[in-house]
Amino acid sequence: MTDQNALKKAVAAKALDYVSDGMTLGLGSGTTAEVFLDLLAPRIRGGLKLLCVPTSERTASYARKLGITLAQLDDLAPLDLTIDGADEADRNLDLIKGGGGMLLREKIVAASSKAMVVIADESKLVPRLGKYPLPVEVIEFGHKATALRLAAAFTALGYANVPMTLRQKDGAVFKTDSGNVIFDCAFGQIKDAPKLATTILAVPGVVEHGLFIAIATTLLIAGPGEVEVITR
Ligand code: A5P
Repeated sequence: MTDQNALKKAVAAKALDYVSDGMTLGLGSGTTAEVFLDLLAPRIRGGLKLLCVPTSERTASYARKLGITLAQLDDLAPLDLTIDGADEADRNLDLIKGGGGMLLREKIVAASSKAMVVIADESKLVPRLGKYPLPVEVIEFGHKATALRLAAAFTALGYANVPMTLRQKDGAVFKTDSGNVIFDCAFGQIKDAPKLATTILAVPGVVEHGLFIAIATTLLIAGPGEVEVITR
């Protein structure tokens, strides 16, 4: 097992401490969240009773393969807890998510949960968000025009010439579970994440962005030998 996989397993194992019988649970997306599902499935087979809501089609299919029964968010909200990964996290528990393109449903499910535990290895913990390109999900109609207005809004906020890349996958434009496209916006450093979040959402055509501000309640960071617990 590579070091990073060992860290993912350690942090996923720690996350099990936050799960209790009878909970409604949001299931995050991404490789770390899938390691968590690998560990959760045997507990469920052993009798742990949970009602689980996936944050993406990929997670839904992964969970079903593990024999985890799924439920609808609308039937259960608010959920007790969501456990999900992150692309970047700071010590304020603010996050960048959406590296896998599932940011919209991830945010809907997390925002509809009483608590969100984020699981990540130490490579994701940063002093300031922004090194990881921020995914911005936009409606396909007029997406190039939307990108121009986003760039103008970034410039007005003091971020000039932010590289914006229309995400591709397998030689085609990447489409999210909701049929939208994503611009990955490489800020380098984000000075004021709440202000940037508000600015992005004010641009017509934008559906959501990967900044998770004041949503996570606990951050579990795996380093060699220990999992650090950071709470709000
Ligand atoms: C999916 O859209 C993302 O938000 C993931 O949660 C994030 O990319 C973390 O994924 P990994 O655990 O695979 O790094």
